[in-house]
Amino acid sequence: MKKRSAWLTLFCIAWIIGSCDGVVGKRKALSKGQRIYLEHCQRCHGAHGNAQLNGAKNLQYSTLNMEERVHIISNGKGVMPAFSGNLDAEEITHVASYLDSLPVAP
Ligand code: HEC
Repeated sequence: MKKRSAWLTLFCIAWIIGSCDGVVGKRKALSKGQRIYLEHCQRCHGAHGNAQLNGAKNLQYSTLNMEERVHIISNGKGVMPAFSGNLDAEEITHVASYLDSLPVAP
């Protein structure tokens, strides 16, 4: 009998861990570009790209092409810091293309 409740406890623990995994899985579903954006860009550009803090441009209205974005993100411009020291070329490409899918603010 004792043994059975031990198994039951184990089963419950496994089940709880299993459901936590679901949460981790959802977090992973954020695209790489989005994760980089939230970590490095949100503080000036805001979650929707339109916060315009510290004089940051509204990214929802940016007309720059990929090449121009990558250039600004890598080298910075005015108040915006250069990210080439923090992010590698692949990460910069990911975040630059993420700008196309910024959620439009209500
Ligand atoms: C310290 C604040 C700050 C941070 C952090 C920041 N930016 Fe900026 N960003 C600015 C400012 C200010 C400008 C306007 C630069 C100018 O034109 O003088 C700008 C401009 C831009 C532009 C050009 C928009 C246009 O249409 O001209 C892009 C693209 C951009 N940022 C992307 C990013 C990305 C991607 C990140 C994160 C990797 C980021 N920024 C992080 C402040 C910031």
